Amino acid sequence: MKSPVTHAASGRIFNFSAGPGCLPEEVLRQAQHDIWDIDNSGIGIMEHSHRGKVFDKVLAEAEENCRKIGNIPANYKVLFLTGGATSQNFMIPANLLPDDGVAAYLTTGYWAEKTWEESKVYSSRCYEAWDGRPCGHDHCPSDAEIKYGAKPVYVHMCSNNTIYGTQWRNPDGTFRYPKVPDGVPLICDMSSDMYSRPIDVTKFGLIYGGAQKNVGIAGTTFCIIRDDLLKPVRKLPLMLKYETHAKDGSRHNTPPAFAIYVSGLVFKWILAQGGLTRLHRHNEDKAKIIYDVLDSSKFYRGHARPDSRSSMNITFRTPSEQLDELFVKEALKHGMDQLKGHRSTGGMRASVYNAFPVAGCKALADFMREFERTHG
Ligand SMILES: Cc1ncc(COP(=O)(O)O)c(C=O)c1O
Repeated sequence: MKSPVTHAASGRIFNFSAGPGCLPEEVLRQAQHDIWDIDNSGIGIMEHSHRGKVFDKVLAEAEENCRKIGNIPANYKVLFLTGGATSQNFMIPANLLPDDGVAAYLTTGYWAEKTWEESKVYSSRCYEAWDGRPCGHDHCPSDAEIKYGAKPVYVHMCSNNTIYGTQWRNPDGTFRYPKVPDGVPLICDMSSDMYSRPIDVTKFGLIYGGAQKNVGIAGTTFCIIRDDLLKPVRKLPLMLKYETHAKDGSRHNTPPAFAIYVSGLVFKWILAQGGLTRLHRHNEDKAKIIYDVLDSSKFYRGHARPDSRSSMNITFRTPSEQLDELFVKEALKHGMDQLKGHRSTGGMRASVYNAFPVAGCKALADFMREFERTHG
């Protein structure tokens, strides 16, 4: 493979991947060390028993820091599961939705559509309280747009729509929580904006996501679940019950030890950055660098409606598919990779998760202006 144009002394390029996403340099360096020998044990992290003292500490610290960052109350369990966010599409109804039960889904994007589809395996009475397909998933609905029918046992939402580049947000970028019927738990897929901004965990019954974008690598699925939701509504195999994983502290079987270890490092990194309030400002500033180019251009078109723009995934296109293709190719020559939009939407997507550097946002903004000047 031909060497790409690199940035800085690290010899790496700007990675705009939507997931797995880029990791903080400090995390990668520490992992590099600990793969060989962690805590002077003479054994690497991937070779330790998941029931030994070294991993006890890794797991305990990961949970403790996860709780500290999110200010997670004591009546919520933090679980590190497997199977990706996609497995939650069946675990949630399997555990919470009775055979003839009703759950409401807010379908705001590609992943939310998949979550909704899977509910049908468990009950035919679920419904979409919002369907974003007719508007091309260009925004997250206002409370007035959400229509609840029969009272649901839970409401499911996706906080950041990775593919369309939309996010539930107030004008200052803080989290906007959809209205839910009184006493109904809100369940949220936070795969692509977990710990990118402050959240109020108490607004949710369950928060979950794959770690591989903002809080680690593929292999573990974080799950923050309120105690009263742990007991399943039906008979289930042990591995499918939240209750089992809560009772056994995420170690019912051999857990994804290395992935949990990396999440633990990312949590330490988030704390070292000053926590979520600081990180949130930083993420907003980074995204603004790119949105400013879109706003001042007649050449580029953003996909998301401005009031629902994601600070994590920025989606846009040029006037033609040929130019989109050229944009992606030329960007790579300038040391920026993974800018091609998802196969279902086309165009471009710049994913700028927590660990993505501000220098990369500036490089992309400069490149976009230059590309417009030469092709506009
Ligand atoms: C919002 C969202 N939900 C779910 C998924 C699926 O996650 P996984 O591959 O961990 O199953 C993704 C993956 O990109 C995502 O972005």
